[in-house]
Amino acid sequence: MIYSGILMMLYLIALNGENMIDNKMEKLEIAQEHVYQDENTNIQNIIKLLKKKMDKDYSTGIMRRGAHPKHHGCVKAEFIVETNLSDELRVGIFKEASKYPAWIRFSNGSGEVQSDLKKDIRGIAIKVMNVEGKKLLEDEIDEKTQDFLLLSYPVLPIGIVSDFYKLIDAAINKHPLWFFLNPFSLHLREIKLFIDAARQHTNPLDIPYWSTTPYMFGTKAVKYSIKPTSNNLKEMPVNPSGNYLCEIMKQQLKETEASFDFMVQFQTNPVEMPIEDASILWDESHSSFQKVATIKIPPQQFDSEKQMDFCENLSFTPWHSLPEHKPLGGINRARKEIYRELSKYRHQKNNISRKEPTKCEL
Ligand code: HEM
Repeated sequence: MIYSGILMMLYLIALNGENMIDNKMEKLEIAQEHVYQDENTNIQNIIKLLKKKMDKDYSTGIMRRGAHPKHHGCVKAEFIVETNLSDELRVGIFKEASKYPAWIRFSNGSGEVQSDLKKDIRGIAIKVMNVEGKKLLEDEIDEKTQDFLLLSYPVLPIGIVSDFYKLIDAAINKHPLWFFLNPFSLHLREIKLFIDAARQHTNPLDIPYWSTTPYMFGTKAVKYSIKPTSNNLKEMPVNPSGNYLCEIMKQQLKETEASFDFMVQFQTNPVEMPIEDASILWDESHSSFQKVATIKIPPQQFDSEKQMDFCENLSFTPWHSLPEHKPLGGINRARKEIYRELSKYRHQKNNISRKEPTKCEL
């Protein structure tokens, strides 16, 4: 028994560069995807479950997003592509040094609209405008937006679609612990990641964010990260309210700008830096993040009723994208249908037309 275990381990080590998927050996290449057989069924089931949740949560009033429903505001920004990038980095939107207008939505990750005092993962959604070239979504091919969505944690605690479906099913129909502590399929590593990822943050303008999922970068694959570079407010307010994250952004942006570096990390090893499991960290000691753009958020007031409504009605998706930056991996493939269907659903229910913005003025 012990010998056969050791033999199996040696066999797997000898196969370095190969991966077992669906019980067959497959040589993995950089940026290579593998579609699982049950993927589409899981995606359709996730859509059904999230629609059910949205119907229940928003039976009256406006229907909010199926995830990240609470925002701290949408701010006007500039996305400035670096000059003098190396040839390897001059891909898609990063091809030429250029300055684009952008909208950025800051949000809580929780599916509930809850107090900011509760520990949570935070989200940032960046919509870069005036980006020329055909886009990936068949029904929005001529839109001029390139979106980037990132979270305040380097990995997605649940990295594959089938597990994501099981978690959402448990959370909506029973309790999330049914997924994590199911004695037939324990998910202890995932629960640990969730606990570590949910934090009390002080200021959304002062958080580093990660894409967690990979994207094409021409013929290669990258993950994205942004890191704050400005002199941000870092102290928790005294007696913070349940909306203190919006309030601190307002306080900072009244007088001071905020900025971030936008960076990419190349996949250099298809096994240790997998495309299909977003819960695996791509080790920075193997491949470091390289800056490709600066995000500048000038001082501004962003919380007028008109702007907050506009923010509510925007639709972000990683598939608002040039083909050069095509989203990769199961979680991203799932997001194509899920974001489109659920954004359409809430816009229909709210009787609001869906359209991509073309400028920062409202
Ligand atoms: C299978 C996994 C995922 C599911 C089911 C999911 C689901 C959703 C849904 C339904 C929305 C609302 C879309 C809308 O109505 O416009 C949303 C928004 C969002 N998601 Fe995901 N998501 C997943 C993975 C991710 C990942 C990997 C990231 C980033 C690393 C992410 C970041 C965000 C952010 C930042 C928003 C807010 C977008 C906005 O501000 O409008 N999600 N997600």
